[in-house]
Amino acid sequence: MSRITTYANSPSPQLLEKIGATNLTLADAVAEIVANSFDAALDGEPVVVEVTVDGEEICVVDSGAGMSEDVLVEAVKLGVDMADVVKKPPGAKGRFGLGMNTACASIGRWSAVYTRPLGAHSEFRVVFDLAEWERRPNVPEAWTIDIEELDLPTDGPLGDREHGTAVVVKKLRQQEPLAGAVLAKLGEAFKPHLQQGDSILVNGVAATPHNYDFVANSKVPIDIAFGPAHEFQITGWVAIDKQTHNDGDYGFNIYRHGQLVQTWCQEWFAAHLMTSRIIGEVNMDFIGAAIFSQGLQQSDLRRQASAEMKEFLKPVVMASRELSRGSNFRSPDRARQIIDELHDALGLESPERQPSTARTMPSPRDPRTAGRTASTDHRKGGGANTGTRYTTKVRRETVQEVFTQEHRYRSRWAAITAIAAESGMAPETLRRWVRRAGARPASGDQGLSGGGARVTELEREVRQLRRDIETLKASGAFTKAEKLRPGEADRRR
Ligand SMILES: Nc1ncnc2c1ncn2[C@@H]1O[C@H](COP(=O)(O)OP(=O)(O)OP(=O)(O)O)[C@@H](O)[C@H]1O
Ligand SMILES: [Mg+2]
Repeated sequence: MSRITTYANSPSPQLLEKIGATNLTLADAVAEIVANSFDAALDGEPVVVEVTVDGEEICVVDSGAGMSEDVLVEAVKLGVDMADVVKKPPGAKGRFGLGMNTACASIGRWSAVYTRPLGAHSEFRVVFDLAEWERRPNVPEAWTIDIEELDLPTDGPLGDREHGTAVVVKKLRQQEPLAGAVLAKLGEAFKPHLQQGDSILVNGVAATPHNYDFVANSKVPIDIAFGPAHEFQITGWVAIDKQTHNDGDYGFNIYRHGQLVQTWCQEWFAAHLMTSRIIGEVNMDFIGAAIFSQGLQQSDLRRQASAEMKEFLKPVVMASRELSRGSNFRSPDRARQIIDELHDALGLESPERQPSTARTMPSPRDPRTAGRTASTDHRKGGGANTGTRYTTKVRRETVQEVFTQEHRYRSRWAAITAIAAESGMAPETLRRWVRRAGARPASGDQGLSGGGARVTELEREVRQLRRDIETLKASGAFTKAEKLRPGEADRRR
């Protein structure tokens, strides 16, 4: 049995043509359709999404909750906030009510949705044929769609699934769609899900996150908190790959609530071959995702986050450059030394004494808490707790202690060293917190802010001097100078 119902539909054919002309890549568009499959996951059941990419059609099939007729009618309208129509899961990826239509229209000029809602015994089908729509008069009454209802058929792309959704796109805009690019994109885009047991198959091949071969011990955690009350968190990791990447695939993948929102961001360091070993992932839940998950919205918050990342990455950039210089990379001793220096600069314990710094991305099921191991007893702990995450409270209190106690010490640095030792943390870690707080005095204490600026300036000088020393060391000049007798170096200048 088959029944067809006609519904008013808001997007005009012209509008769909226009949004189809967005510059979404095929891989991005498929990811947008797959994101909906994750949102339709059934409680406790792993998600399996099957994607087919060939010269004729792109097809995405899932065994999720499917859509009732009422939901489907709204789903195919442009820009409906679906939270008003369906119960969105916590941390749902979909927010704008645009993804599916936009993705389909950008992939091809004919698309169809087939859906079998959980518990029902029918399938609903709707077809969008832009060529056919184009022939209709451009009046609202003509903007209708037909939804066909069938008793569970077995001939469609859903096969014998009891529930689920299939999105099929034909009349492709791209002549030879590359399944490999789609596979790679989906492997990165849904990495946290794939690591948890969900799966995506592209032409039968399982999407997997890329496996890197990093320089030993070069993977370091990122755990930055900023903002007036340190309320904005950037978590993740960065590592140095054994290979340089002249393909441009390096830098940072930025995730928001477990979904990749920006691929290979290189804004936080000068991108060139010597820094193309830098690979990292960060989770920035606090920044709103731009429409279609393409990059993150530009905002003051994003600019602040960028400034924090730039500062944090300076020693990583230096390590990547050093490893790429001359024969350093081939010398295990020199490579080890460079990584040791990186750990020092970041206030992390030396790799030899440290178990493992590898961190996983926060779980998409619980993005705010997973992967965070904040503890409250660092102040008592013996030994440097470097590489450990600290609670905002511990950070704030320890920084405050430096500000209130520094007058007892010869310098701020002396105060930092003493308080850090007492608190069981690396002085460099504390210095970085103090530097951030100093640049943004919340207390309104002008004296402190003046001191903070001076310290920052001196630190900048020290960092510059260290960099100069490193360059000299790398070029061999320093070793020669060190061999000179005391005073001789001065006389030779
Ligand atoms: N595979 C699917 N399974 C079940 N429901 C789906 C599926 N794909 C789409 N839907 C329904 O269609 C709606 C519209 O999807 P669409 O991607 O256009 O918007 P969205 O996901 O709500 O927001 P966004 O534009 O941010 O992606 C979804 O909210 C969901 O209710
Ligand atoms: Mg969506």
